[in-house]
Amino acid sequence: MRILGFAVAAALFAGIAAPAAAADVDGAKLFKKKCTVCHRLDETGKKKVGPNLWGVVGRPIASMPGFKYSKGLGRHKGKTWTEENLDAWLTKPRAFAKGTRMAFPGFRKAEQRAAVIAYLRSAVE
Ligand code: HEC
Repeated sequence: MRILGFAVAAALFAGIAAPAAAADVDGAKLFKKKCTVCHRLDETGKKKVGPNLWGVVGRPIASMPGFKYSKGLGRHKGKTWTEENLDAWLTKPRAFAKGTRMAFPGFRKAEQRAAVIAYLRSAVE
């Protein structure tokens, strides 16, 4: 009986935890909360501490005119911000580009990264 009780409790817990986690992930909100301190996302071409992220999905890495990138990110020049590269970058910027100046620790959850990347893409469309 004790085993059954545990199974029921585990199933209940999973049932409660999963929908709550999914409902939390809103790319626009996350971007506003975690990225806008340092990034603009508009057609002005203006930068903040970080480069403007307008059209960044599909854009060459480290290519905003007039922005002084770190050597770490500069090493990725010639490559593109594909969704895969953005996912790796937003998991842990310092691992993707050693010595980066982007002081953001990263998102541990894949859903959060996916939501922000989808938002970056949709903002331009
Ligand atoms: C504390 C400031 C800061 C925060 C917060 C921050 N960034 Fe950055 N970001 C930077 C800086 C600085 C760079 C340039 C990095 C370098 O040169 O190493 C950068 C670079 C980038 C790039 C590369 C752009 C290019 O032109 O190649 C992307 C993409 C990016 N950030 C996305 C994000 C997203 C998405 C968030 C929110 C989850 C975020 N950043 C949060 C400062 C920040």
